[in-house]
Amino acid sequence: IEAEARTRIAEADSLAALETLRVEYLGKQGSVSALLKTLGKMTPDERQEKGPKIQGLRQFVSDALSERKAMMEAALLDARLAEETLDLSLPEPASPKGSVHPVSQVMDELAEIFADLGFSVATGPEIEDDWYNFTALNMPESHPARAMHDTFYFPDKAPKGGKMLLRTHTSPVQVRTMMAEGAPLRIIAPGRVYRSDSDATHTPMFHQIEGLVIDRDIHLGHLKWTLETFLKAFFERDDIVLRLRPSYFPFTEPSVEVDVGYSMEKGRRVVGGSGDAPGHAWMEVLGSGMVNRRVIEMSGLDPDEWQGFAFGTGVDRLAMLKYGMDDLRAFFDGDVRWAAHYGFSG
Ligand code: PHE
Repeated sequence: IEAEARTRIAEADSLAALETLRVEYLGKQGSVSALLKTLGKMTPDERQEKGPKIQGLRQFVSDALSERKAMMEAALLDARLAEETLDLSLPEPASPKGSVHPVSQVMDELAEIFADLGFSVATGPEIEDDWYNFTALNMPESHPARAMHDTFYFPDKAPKGGKMLLRTHTSPVQVRTMMAEGAPLRIIAPGRVYRSDSDATHTPMFHQIEGLVIDRDIHLGHLKWTLETFLKAFFERDDIVLRLRPSYFPFTEPSVEVDVGYSMEKGRRVVGGSGDAPGHAWMEVLGSGMVNRRVIEMSGLDPDEWQGFAFGTGVDRLAMLKYGMDDLRAFFDGDVRWAAHYGFSG
């Protein structure tokens, strides 16, 4: 048996053939197993003599099988390694890419433009105290302007009176920054604001950017120059024309609303030119004014020494205008197809 097994195992040419041989010799019905079974019926003397031989045969077949198996597996692996090469010219499978949201991008653009003008970025909490959001901005408790803000209130009492609320504008950051840093100041404050309002041009959460300059001898001319410079840089056009209209905000005096001229091109608003030119119209883009001396006072500064201007505008509106988007709600749906459509996806 041993000689026959040696040859057959050496000649086996596949793992399957080896397995067949294993069953044939060592399986339950195998020939070596059958020999092993005869040991039980032998006399002690016979067993003494044949036992070691049969055990040796079993060991031999078993060793020969595993040796051959290991050789064959090694050969198979070599063959596979020789055959499998990396094709570096294959195109990479497409993988989805993330990109910066238009609102974030516009906030970055604004921060960069204002950084060039010497403004730093200030922040304040979105869950705000009634006092910072209204009272310190010259809107005491029964002020009618409060009603225009559609405020989300929390049931919690605010430390400085009234209730806690979701800030309705970024203007409370004016007060917080003056109180924390004093004067002079040149800051912008971009961030989320909230009002209970929703349609194609209003969402309950939207983004504003506030600007504040506090210094000595600041006047309306500084405000006008700053806004003109910023809007030209933002829309990347030299022909931006501003119209300043007298307006009213409790926290600025005088207050000025700012319009830009635009025309319609292929159903899209394109900013540029005077709103009075043929085919053009005016569109309001921001609110501003000289900081009301009462606000400067409530923020802990002397209004006889320090003056300033402030402005506030909607970041989402600016993004819509710059990139020709038309439904504000789509900004916050999180549908990447929308972003991709306007070139905001990888
Ligand atoms: N906070 C005002 C608003 O939300 C905008 C504004 C800011 C107006 C600063 C004047 C000065 O409408």
